Amino acid sequence: MMKLRSIELALPGAAAAARFMVDVWGCADAGHNGETYYLRGSGAYPYLVAISENADSFVRSTTFVCSPERLADVARAVAAKGLNARPVVSHDPGGGAGIVVELTEGEVLRFLVGSTEVAPIAGHAKATRRVMPVKLTHVVFNSADAEASGHLVEDVLGFRVSDRTKGMVFVRCNEAHHSTAFARAGFASLNHIAFEMDDLDAVMRGIGNMRDHGFAPAWGPGRHGPGDNVYAYYIAPFGPVIEYSTAVEKVSADYQAGEPDDWTWPDKRIDQWGTSDKDFAGLRAAEEKFRFRREWEPAPLTDLAGA
Ligand SMILES: [Fe+2]
Repeated sequence: MMKLRSIELALPGAAAAARFMVDVWGCADAGHNGETYYLRGSGAYPYLVAISENADSFVRSTTFVCSPERLADVARAVAAKGLNARPVVSHDPGGGAGIVVELTEGEVLRFLVGSTEVAPIAGHAKATRRVMPVKLTHVVFNSADAEASGHLVEDVLGFRVSDRTKGMVFVRCNEAHHSTAFARAGFASLNHIAFEMDDLDAVMRGIGNMRDHGFAPAWGPGRHGPGDNVYAYYIAPFGPVIEYSTAVEKVSADYQAGEPDDWTWPDKRIDQWGTSDKDFAGLRAAEEKFRFRREWEPAPLTDLAGA
């Protein structure tokens, strides 16, 4: 078992950012620990986004939850490859323990076992029409070499490349078409954080709610090719690119990875519907703000790898 759970960010103005995520974006308040604020969705994860107060904006980590078997496999492969890593105990809601791994372009991924879940929040949509994400569907990174990143996570993490387009290498860690992707950006940073909504209607209500608060999509609404998800991207007032999305399609283990020529659009189109415009410059500027930073010193994984 391997699932994307959460992303941990650092940025100036964490309290205001958390307020936006609750009051406008629709997350539920999952409490705070000092100046680290936790935001959850309606699903069973204790939180989806952690925002820690810091003078600089950066991505602290992206967290997956997995089985002990998968953790042992990852630890073994990470040690064999010589990647920076160390054992870790999570002090975030849900707890758990595992390893934190730095990929070759600096992306910090945390893999936890024993992290607990919480009771889902039911009935919010029908009862109140409240906009609330369920969970994260994917976190996408910009890469200097997206192909190499795709190969690395296949080799070391047991992930699989689902599709390649002119812009992206889409990667899955379970039956969902992608839980992450590497964009062919020429530099390493956070590309965007995608929140899974209950359905297409919930994505559209999210767009309406953002409109009520004065925010227009930077890209969307539209329907992507790879993953087949309906999307709307926004530049959050505190920096990162965030997305309302339907669930990405589920694929079978023998899914044939598509190549860029399999994913082309008619002239002037950038999605299946042909409805979406994209603020390329605005999105790129936002993406460049969130780089990766290692906050820990690497240590041997001998104990875990031998487990
Ligand atoms: Fe996305």
